Amino acid sequence: NGKYTVTMIEGDGIGVEISKAVKEIYAAADVPVEWEDVDVTPLLINGKTTLPQEAVDSVNRNLVALKGPLATPVGKGHTSMNLTLRRTFNLFANVRPCKSIVGYKTPYENVDTVLIRENTEGEYSGIEHTIVPGVVQSIKLITKPASEKVIRYGFEYAKSINKPHIVIVHKASIMKLSDGLFVETAKEVAKEYPDVKLSFELLDNTSLKLTQDPSEYKDVVMVMPNLYGDIMSDLSSGLIGGLGLTPSGNMGNKVSIFEAVHGSAPDIAGKGLANPTALLLSSCMMLRHMSLNADADKIENAVLKTIASGPANRTGDLKGTATTQHFTEQVIANL
Ligand code: IPM
Ligand code: MN
Repeated sequence: NGKYTVTMIEGDGIGVEISKAVKEIYAAADVPVEWEDVDVTPLLINGKTTLPQEAVDSVNRNLVALKGPLATPVGKGHTSMNLTLRRTFNLFANVRPCKSIVGYKTPYENVDTVLIRENTEGEYSGIEHTIVPGVVQSIKLITKPASEKVIRYGFEYAKSINKPHIVIVHKASIMKLSDGLFVETAKEVAKEYPDVKLSFELLDNTSLKLTQDPSEYKDVVMVMPNLYGDIMSDLSSGLIGGLGLTPSGNMGNKVSIFEAVHGSAPDIAGKGLANPTALLLSSCMMLRHMSLNADADKIENAVLKTIASGPANRTGDLKGTATTQHFTEQVIANL
């Protein structure tokens, strides 16, 4: 039928409401996407958090998925489903762009940053032990293959968006072995990309500089280990108006999962107050990945126009008064 099938993981809490908004807007915009909804309620198999097989099969079949926030089940020894998804499909690079929305004022203007986060290891490896009561150890695992993969992805990405300058953000001054390996790997990979500039920055210094003048980062692509990317992407979101606005793409060799960076917001879930922008912009990253650029532009322009049109058409996180439904209708009107 000339449509692309995409796996939809609606997610928990506000995930249900924001996915519904995406579906309504896509239908109104005639985007050639058919959604295949899957349930990812985790199973605990041999003490390991496991995705339902139908969900895994769907993503492997469609190669592209859009995902709302998933709450981490508490108390039963589960690991985060968000991490389980990244690991299951070896989504080794997490791309997180962050761009000011014209017409939504924050203390920062013209923010246009992008960071790429290693997405499978580091402090997220889940290797922790109690040695004796009161003494614990959490292992930060850094491997050369995973570092090489995300760094090479970074170089390719930098070329593709015409920002031929990689900044490796690290703390090798303290984490001499782990971040040291990341830094050394970057120097090696850089030899394959003579046209891309490579520089290095300490994580604390990048945080300082980003909050002082983010425009210094508008022509570079930052690449960093997992936990640093987690923190720096929230920091970047804060510059433009918060987590309700920032998209992301979890990229693997074959499969990609696009997701909003924010959580399931149980405090406002079910009340019709959630901002679907982050999921909508994630879906635009997805459309561009599928070479549906015109559809991506159409949705993105309508979303940005809606936010710029004033507080009556913005959700509460952007100091507006709009419900999710009202915002959705405005986006449709602006298509
Ligand atoms: C993110 C989130 C996740 C992370 C959580 C929900 C596990 O904060 O995507 O940034 O820590 O990576
Ligand atoms: Mn995070």
